[in-house]
Amino acid sequence: PAPGWAIDADVVVVGSGVAGLTTALRCTAAGLRTVVVTKARLDDGSTRWAQGGIAAALGEGDTPEQHLADTLVAGVGLCDEDAVRALVTEGPAAVRRLIDTGAHFDTSATGELELTREGGHHRRRIAHAGGDATGAEISRALVEAVRAAALRTVENALVLDLLTDAHGRTSGVTLHVMGEGQHDGVGAVHAPAVVLATGGIGQVFSATTNPAVSTGDGVALALRAGAEISDLEFVQFHPTVLFLGSGAEGQQPLVSEAVRGEGAHLVDADGVRFMLGRHELAELAPRDIVAKAIVRRMRERGADHMYLDARHFGAAMWESRFPTILAACRSHGIDPVTEPVPVAPAAHYASGGIRTDLRGRTTVPGLYASGEAACTGVHGANRLASNSLLEGLVFAERIAADIVASRRPGPAEHGPAEHGPAEHGPLTEAAENAPEAAENVDGLPLIAPEARPVIQRIMSMGAGVLRSARSLEEAARALETVESAAYEPLAPGAKAAVPGVDSWETTNLLCVARVLAAAALEREETRGCHWREDHPERDDTDWRRHLVVRLTPERR
Ligand code: SIN
Repeated sequence: PAPGWAIDADVVVVGSGVAGLTTALRCTAAGLRTVVVTKARLDDGSTRWAQGGIAAALGEGDTPEQHLADTLVAGVGLCDEDAVRALVTEGPAAVRRLIDTGAHFDTSATGELELTREGGHHRRRIAHAGGDATGAEISRALVEAVRAAALRTVENALVLDLLTDAHGRTSGVTLHVMGEGQHDGVGAVHAPAVVLATGGIGQVFSATTNPAVSTGDGVALALRAGAEISDLEFVQFHPTVLFLGSGAEGQQPLVSEAVRGEGAHLVDADGVRFMLGRHELAELAPRDIVAKAIVRRMRERGADHMYLDARHFGAAMWESRFPTILAACRSHGIDPVTEPVPVAPAAHYASGGIRTDLRGRTTVPGLYASGEAACTGVHGANRLASNSLLEGLVFAERIAADIVASRRPGPAEHGPAEHGPAEHGPLTEAAENAPEAAENVDGLPLIAPEARPVIQRIMSMGAGVLRSARSLEEAARALETVESAAYEPLAPGAKAAVPGVDSWETTNLLCVARVLAAAALEREETRGCHWREDHPERDDTDWRRHLVVRLTPERR
């Protein structure tokens, strides 16, 4: 639809989690006319749901080198070491700047940051706030800082598509806004720099820790804009999500790894600790290893969940250290003080996303990606716990610095991103050979919102924690059926209604789901959080490489 209103800016940031708001604050502090647009309210993204904390080498005896080593091990050979080095070396100062911005982390009586452990970390290096409400505190502090800076924000604004100029350079975004007065309806923000900080894709699956807004809008937009997407097959399933029944759908309550970091045990229905002897770190092994061990034990026992036993914490520790989780469990009739907590893995984090270089640049000039929407290379095949908030902070600052620098004439002008050669393998072909989509009169593909739960079930069945060629082929076929059934091509001359947010979200979910399923099918090995039943081993000969997808113009 043609934009009915427009705002001019130097930079538009799409999304309002830690990555988006940090980028926006840095840009506005540098004097850039900055606009933040966000799909719901400013604090409605994934950031505020983060529990465990933010990882950085802040503790005595810890070093960025040790943090680097743990991150590379968790990423199983697919991390970009330069990106990880930037993350771990710039991380501690970035956390301190977040504290200066107003975030209150938990401290000891002497004022030292309290640090906990999580899976894959050999040291206590996770700073936390409010016990287990770290994301909520970070979000509160950043939203307050945004308000104090009088930063221009547009809420309830679903981003539709990227605008580009005649040279293919980014020139803004189109938006669909509801209930924001002068900015209602379809409009545009014109800006030479667009930062996609739209968060994750968890809603592609039936059960996820992600909020309802995590529908992969940024990844889908980037695909339509011709940007490269990488590593989408690496979806991290959090091992310990509160189990509310096998049919539970939508956002599920997380039971933080920090609970294991403080000594909780994973047990089966007989109370047997099945992580002992499986890994030197037992319950604190990297997340993919714990998730796989849980699923294996579930299969062996014919069970649909396992248990997290932390009764030995006692009521006082539960109340002071994990008040959010305690309340969530109790609201579902489970008391962790007196009984083991039922848990099962659920979709949690996209380790891949929109491919960027070390300055957050995508392969489309002027388009940046930040936070979970991005694939900076720090996570490889499996993100190390609590590195995501840190990535959001560190790369936001890098992006802001690049946008500021690119406004000055000279060598920093946004040229091609500094990527290695793109690996366009058969996957690109698979994506390019996807069936033709029907379109409405504006050329916008529309999927009926009723298809959303169907897509989610297909993906959970076929491309969930355990995958095979058969399950993935079935998923791909079923997604094609959803696409053809969901379209109602308009009669010639008929006027298209402006699509609602739910149609766009469903369209984005389908777009992301198809690329994800194709990537997972293509990668014939088991690595990190990608687990192929029919290819159970890691294959460093053929697969120590990334799958990069870019849709050809006719497929966008
Ligand atoms: C958790 O608290 O377990 C989640 C931390 C993360 O996903 O990094």
